[in-house]
Amino acid sequence: MVNPTPQPVQPLLVFANIAKNFGAVQALRGVDFELRPGEVHALLGENGAGKSTLIKVATGAHAPDSGHLVLGGRRLDALNPATARALGVACIYQQPALFPDLTVAENLALRLEPAGAWRRVDRRARRVRAAELLQRLGADLAPDAEIRDLSMPEQQLVEIAAAIGAGARIVIMDEPTASLTQREQERLFAIVRTLRAEGVGVIYISHRLEEIFALADRVTVLRDGASVGTHAVGDMDAAGLIRLMVGRELAGLPPPGGTVPGEIALELRGTGCAAAGVGSVTFAVRAGEILGLAGLVGAGRTELARVLFGLTPADEGEILREGRPVRLDSPQAAMAHGLAYVPEDRRRHGVVMELPVAQNITLAAHRRVFRHGWLSAPAENRVAAEFIARLGIKAAGPEAAVATLSGGNQQKVAVARWLATAPRVLILDEPTQGVDIAAKGELHRIIRELAQGGLAVILISSDLPEIIGLCDRIGVMRGGTLREILPGGTAAPVVMAAALGTNEKEGAA
Ligand SMILES: Nc1ncnc2c1ncn2[C@@H]1O[C@H](COP(=O)(O)OP(=O)(O)OP(=O)(O)O)[C@@H](O)[C@H]1O
Ligand SMILES: [Mg+2]
Repeated sequence: MVNPTPQPVQPLLVFANIAKNFGAVQALRGVDFELRPGEVHALLGENGAGKSTLIKVATGAHAPDSGHLVLGGRRLDALNPATARALGVACIYQQPALFPDLTVAENLALRLEPAGAWRRVDRRARRVRAAELLQRLGADLAPDAEIRDLSMPEQQLVEIAAAIGAGARIVIMDEPTASLTQREQERLFAIVRTLRAEGVGVIYISHRLEEIFALADRVTVLRDGASVGTHAVGDMDAAGLIRLMVGRELAGLPPPGGTVPGEIALELRGTGCAAAGVGSVTFAVRAGEILGLAGLVGAGRTELARVLFGLTPADEGEILREGRPVRLDSPQAAMAHGLAYVPEDRRRHGVVMELPVAQNITLAAHRRVFRHGWLSAPAENRVAAEFIARLGIKAAGPEAAVATLSGGNQQKVAVARWLATAPRVLILDEPTQGVDIAAKGELHRIIRELAQGGLAVILISSDLPEIIGLCDRIGVMRGGTLREILPGGTAAPVVMAAALGTNEKEGAA
């Protein structure tokens, strides 16, 4: 309920009884919400709870079916994106929407300069302005860098710079830290706190409770499209928030260990690929083992995964599968040797947005669903149904296009797609990014079970508790190579120090 008594401060934004349906899906069922100036207001809820839909109402991307908003002191039944921007709403999306062929400075100029003026402004002024903004963010990015050459976290920094540059009064961040390292995250938090001090209202969506406790003043929890309450963060603890969010207690994950690793499934001997910036990587992973890969963004972890999956084939060293040298020079070759790879950037590589959930899941597993050379629909639906149930994928049905799923549910489809291939070596790149706390626990349990069933797992994750809690051993990458291997359960500061290289003597390495 919106508080009917007058607030001492005028809220920046009010949602009153907002409802939004997509066909038969009730994404929002009468949500009330209020954002005050100078507060960080967290939105929390399971995958598919309606968080992104709610903020798309605030940005004018979706017109609500009923209810109204109050924005900039005006009562509005709907918004369009231009009006929302004019009224000071800026949004950082899960997936940056930048022009890949243009530079950072050009992308910022497109956002910040009036449409007609864009071509006339001189490049130097534009670069200086971009550099100032990036510096204020503490972002180590060249204004002249092309977006296509930037990593996803770097692109997100450009998005944030654009919002800040536009002088937004309401900044909405939809899982902004999902792919940021600790350092980038701290930098972002510092910026959010600066915005708050300037009276900006920040709506902050995250599945990471630690972030909500570190950053937010108030939290509104959504469940199945309805608000189940707004609370001061100081009045809540993690267990209370989880109860509100999922309506039950969650079981924790038992510590790693207990399984006896089998034969070496995959071995790298001085493996590298010059073009990918990865060199001299040596390690072995056994059947039944989960090997974590920790490191900062840019340390070479995704690049190494791409080498192993034949996307940028190795040109240095050796790769052995079950003791035999293999050439993994294409994804087909890698798959034929029993490797599977769940990439980090699900929108580009993980799922096919236009295809139904069922087909996405079975896409890479055709051997399991082909009968006499024809795709058997019942078999496809059976395999899909199994994973939809196991991962709790929330979709209108197996025929729903993946594009209509919430972000976290798309991620689950990407993981399911590769699990369905029954691989021998599974490479997971940030598999729980954007996945809610209940589904994350379920994914962790599944990864454990798969390992116990004899699968070798290589887990790339920037989520330190995940790496530490789930992995039998933790490989640390830095500067494109594997620096050391730590035992599972190693304390977080030790892993961090290894990732940063601060535990080595000056001048070493
Ligand atoms: N364009 C669309 N067409 C059909 N259904 C949609 C569309 N957008 C969202 N939905 C549905 O609305 C519901 C809410 O989705 P939303 O993206 O708001 O969830 P979310 O809380 O942001 O989840 P996540 O944490 O996974 O990002 C989901 O059931 C989703 O499938
Ligand atoms: Mg979302």
